[in-house]
Amino acid sequence: MRTRKSIKTLTEFIIERQQEYPHAKGALTRLLNDIATAAKIVNREVNSAGLVDILGYAGKENVQGEAQKKLDIFANDQFITALQAGAECCAIASEENEKVISFKNEFSELGKYVIAIDPLDGSSNIEANVSIGTIFSIYRRKSEIGGGTLDDLLQPGVNMVAAGYVIYGSSTMLVFTTGKGVNGFTLDPSVGIFCLSHEDMRFPEKSNIYSINEGNYIHFQEGVKKYLKYCQEEDPVTNRPYTSRYIGSLVADFHRNLIKGGIFIYPGTKKNPKGKLRLLYECNPVAFIAEQAGGKATDGFNRIMNIQPESLHQRAPLFVGPKDMVEKAEEFLKEHSPA
Ligand code: AHG
Ligand code: MN
Ligand code: MN
Repeated sequence: MRTRKSIKTLTEFIIERQQEYPHAKGALTRLLNDIATAAKIVNREVNSAGLVDILGYAGKENVQGEAQKKLDIFANDQFITALQAGAECCAIASEENEKVISFKNEFSELGKYVIAIDPLDGSSNIEANVSIGTIFSIYRRKSEIGGGTLDDLLQPGVNMVAAGYVIYGSSTMLVFTTGKGVNGFTLDPSVGIFCLSHEDMRFPEKSNIYSINEGNYIHFQEGVKKYLKYCQEEDPVTNRPYTSRYIGSLVADFHRNLIKGGIFIYPGTKKNPKGKLRLLYECNPVAFIAEQAGGKATDGFNRIMNIQPESLHQRAPLFVGPKDMVEKAEEFLKEHSPA
């Protein structure tokens, strides 16, 4: 008879982990479940994105008489709705909203957490059927009563209690950490359940991928240019030249590098010294996961998770991946482009 490994669902996994904290009331568990629920709805929509034209939804009205929205607005709405309904979270910072969304109702005001979220990352890749994602970070609120505030969200990454991403790829996965390692769950589409598939994820010992938008080469600082040349040099001992892989969706690039071993860089340039990626809902969550997987994340000089945010949509240069690779890149920066 064929035997199969027993399946552990996301819900079973988080309830099991919660039991390690006898005083926990399950709020974080419910919050992660709310995120997973919204992710499943977004996944369904992302998977049928190619049918939009055939079914005639785009630019028209859907069956409920609402105008069909772009996928990133759709995703934003799904996460906001699920998190508000779940009532464990009192405020959200989203890439799609200029200001903090503060939940002011008798239930959500009691929520202990705030969330920063990029509802759909890599959305320019949608029409090309390339992997996209959702990224989130969760903090404990600082304020004590009422709806959550800007101040609740302007916390350094070291205060995160959990962070994760969903990748809508050849299969859909939810990867997250609560500060005790990184675990990945694959969505079984036939039953709509996330199942533990990647336990205790770590960067591999040996890595040889570098990911950067090299089209911007001319604008890079000297240290980044020199590091890229280092990646391209021949040296069998260090497995160079490395291989270059760049999708243009942070979630997908980071996920591949976590599985296969590689560094992702979105550096500052002379024109945009802080680069492109947003600290609260792109750099910080990815940094927390990287550190929990044995890696490192810096802005080239400082630990990403130590940066004190000053505004909601602030940007930061990002160097993230296996520790040795990030440290090598930092050496080049320190030598050739001192801060
Ligand atoms: P978003 O779709 O949320 O705006 O994010 C896009 C980001 C990120 O996913 C990716 O790493 C980066 O933009 C790619 O930028 P370039 O096109 O400049 O390489
Ligand atoms: Mn993004
Ligand atoms: Mn986005």
